[in-house]
Amino acid sequence: MAGISVISGFKRRMKTVKTELLDKIWARGREFLGVRYPIICGAMTWISDAHLVKAVRASGGFGVLAAGNMRPEELESEIDRCLATVGGPFAVNLVTIAPNFAAHKEVVAGKDVPLVVFAGNFPRRNDVQEMKRAGKRTMSFASTTSIADQMIRFGIDALILEGSEAGGHIGHVSLTILLQQVLFARPPVPVFVAGGIATGRMMAHLLLMGADGVQMGTRFVMSSECRTHARFKEAFVRARAREAVETPQYDRRLPVVAVRALRNQAMEEFGRLQLELIKSLDEGRIDRRTAQERVEEFWMGGLRRAVVEGDVERGSLMAGQSVGLVEKIMPMKEIFRELTEDAEEELQRVRSLLG
Ligand SMILES: Cc1cc2nc3c(=O)[nH]c(=O)nc-3n(C[C@H](O)[C@H](O)[C@H](O)COP(=O)(O)O)c2cc1C
Repeated sequence: MAGISVISGFKRRMKTVKTELLDKIWARGREFLGVRYPIICGAMTWISDAHLVKAVRASGGFGVLAAGNMRPEELESEIDRCLATVGGPFAVNLVTIAPNFAAHKEVVAGKDVPLVVFAGNFPRRNDVQEMKRAGKRTMSFASTTSIADQMIRFGIDALILEGSEAGGHIGHVSLTILLQQVLFARPPVPVFVAGGIATGRMMAHLLLMGADGVQMGTRFVMSSECRTHARFKEAFVRARAREAVETPQYDRRLPVVAVRALRNQAMEEFGRLQLELIKSLDEGRIDRRTAQERVEEFWMGGLRRAVVEGDVERGSLMAGQSVGLVEKIMPMKEIFRELTEDAEEELQRVRSLLG
């Protein structure tokens, strides 16, 4: 299997992880997040609940509660569960395009949540400022240089530079390019990088490049503590990197929100639906608005269907290409141990390489 260290779980448990070299290069990320390891478990709608946030925190990392489109009172009680059980800093992920976004902001503003991560579309200046006035620090994704610049102008406190290798909603630029465009330009705020990361070895190199920490999603779906339907996780265990594909878009008249997910029956049907709609548009049998509505309706409830109901053929199996780097479910603490040990070992290797 590519990339993952083979030290047995037993041997790992016997050792305390030394992070002497890591501590030299991830200090700003640690300080910003207020945790031992600046490793973020990115929010995942229907997946990132208080239970997962707590498990991440207990392993030394930073968890993010996903608000998705929860009812405001549901979000409130999930935040309360985090406040009562997590025992340290965490963030709430607010989806700017969710119908409940305004209500979610209000709920978060009234709670002792230290950090907010904006997702969906990019936040407006007002959204950022509103959360800052409520005493929160803010983070936002950046999938191009201009968005990174705009977020910094809006007063965002940290960026998540996410490449298109990632699972879920994605931009169109890979992490390799974003690193050179944005990270190497040394933005004035901490930068956490995401998309396609699953190993400590990779993490070490990203930190050496100047990242303040990393964010992963797919790797943490494959933790024992992550409470998805068993069939959802099994699909991850079986999948190869090339099966985590971007939803197709065939015609500019029918824009599709880019999502990376595992190929399944629904993905094939979605392709066929678009081709039928394009034909109907060409023949004047349907208007553009109705066609667009059919496209948007298609995935409604899709993630819930896969994650909660375990319908892995008709649901949306959002996953990053990093799905091909991991082949077993592990306890969260073991994942963190593996990541940090392998990262430290890699830094030692680099040090000896350079004399
Ligand atoms: C099933 C799934 C659901 C996701 N849902 C969200 C979400 O609700 N909000 C968000 O900001 N990111 C979401 N993401 C993105 C993750 O937080 C994270 O940035 C991404 O998974 C990183 O790439 P990786 O999967 O290669 O590790 C989701 C990812 C997955 C796999």
